[in-house]
Amino acid sequence: MTRPTPLLSVRDLRIDINTMDGVLKAVRGVDLDIHPGKTLGLVGESGCGKSLTSKAILGINPPNCKASGSIQFNSAAGSWDLLALKPGAAEIRGIRGRRISMIFQEPMTAFSPLYTIGNQISEILLLHVTRDKRVARAMAIDILGRVGIASPEKRIDQYPHEYSGGMLQRAMIAMAIVCKPELLIADEPTTALDVTIQAQILQIMQELQQEFGMAIFFITHDMGTIASMCDEVAVMYLGQIVENGPVRQIFSQPLHPYTRGLLASIPRMGMDAEERLASIKGQVPVPIGLPDTCGFYPRCPLAEEAVCLQAPVPLLEIEPGHFARCFKAKAKGGQDE
Ligand SMILES: Nc1ncnc2c1ncn2[C@@H]1O[C@H](COP(=O)(O)OP(=O)(O)O)[C@@H](O)[C@H]1O
Ligand SMILES: [Mg+2]
Repeated sequence: MTRPTPLLSVRDLRIDINTMDGVLKAVRGVDLDIHPGKTLGLVGESGCGKSLTSKAILGINPPNCKASGSIQFNSAAGSWDLLALKPGAAEIRGIRGRRISMIFQEPMTAFSPLYTIGNQISEILLLHVTRDKRVARAMAIDILGRVGIASPEKRIDQYPHEYSGGMLQRAMIAMAIVCKPELLIADEPTTALDVTIQAQILQIMQELQQEFGMAIFFITHDMGTIASMCDEVAVMYLGQIVENGPVRQIFSQPLHPYTRGLLASIPRMGMDAEERLASIKGQVPVPIGLPDTCGFYPRCPLAEEAVCLQAPVPLLEIEPGHFARCFKAKAKGGQDE
């Protein structure tokens, strides 16, 4: 099968953070490909390096985060290594918010409390798309309507504090997609919302993807939302991709014990909270001074010193297109534990 050129190719992304306790290796050699119009999910517990990875794409990590590697963006307007662009360079300003945009868990970080929602959406349009304020306003009303905000012609003149949490999340999505970006990065976009609104927001994202054809980089700690949203999945643990492949294969034959743990923690009927939490023992360690052998070893139900600690584990292709960073993944193929 020949695949189109990826829209975005991350190669050997490393992010080191200088801390009082030493160098924190938050991202340790990540490779990812996002294809045009498709959704790649990035899943892992809190603290695994998902947000730093996604923010590196837009160059919005704090200055104490040192990134290396490459992030090749093959846009309709040209190709760039985003990591090589200087912060504040004209190119990155033309890309951010226009060709790649981002939505967050907390919509208040996207909006200023001082301006109306309409002003803030129009401002982006006036920067990238049109010079005509009336056109921008009409486009802003249209996009608010499309994300399911009722009476957008009235709502447009309200301030962020006049919106409910779910509505603000919709407005943030509207602002992110109003310029029809080629890539939308969604970092835990529904984590703070209740389940019903979560489902509505995910559905809106999918409808907009169908309509505009944008690719989505969907970041979550919850395997449950991955199945309905994604074409491909990358599972991240302690700054590394430990498994990736098409969503069907990851769900039908998870290879890495960490992925299996995440799948076991998807809430099901009749499962209590304790059972859910117990599916992966222990916690994500702080990545300072870690060995370069398997990072999951201390928490792994299959840990076997002689096998697992012999060398750093490469990402192995266990079946075509399906990779896992585990020396024991191959032997287990297909078998249930
Ligand atoms: N600005 C920072 N300074 C120090 N440590 C940080 C900073 N940002 C993130 N980290 C650390 O880097 C690791 C990865 O963080 P993050 O990318 O936010 O993880 P995730 O999004 O998967 O929860 C964590 O150990 C976190 O504590
Ligand atoms: Mg995060």
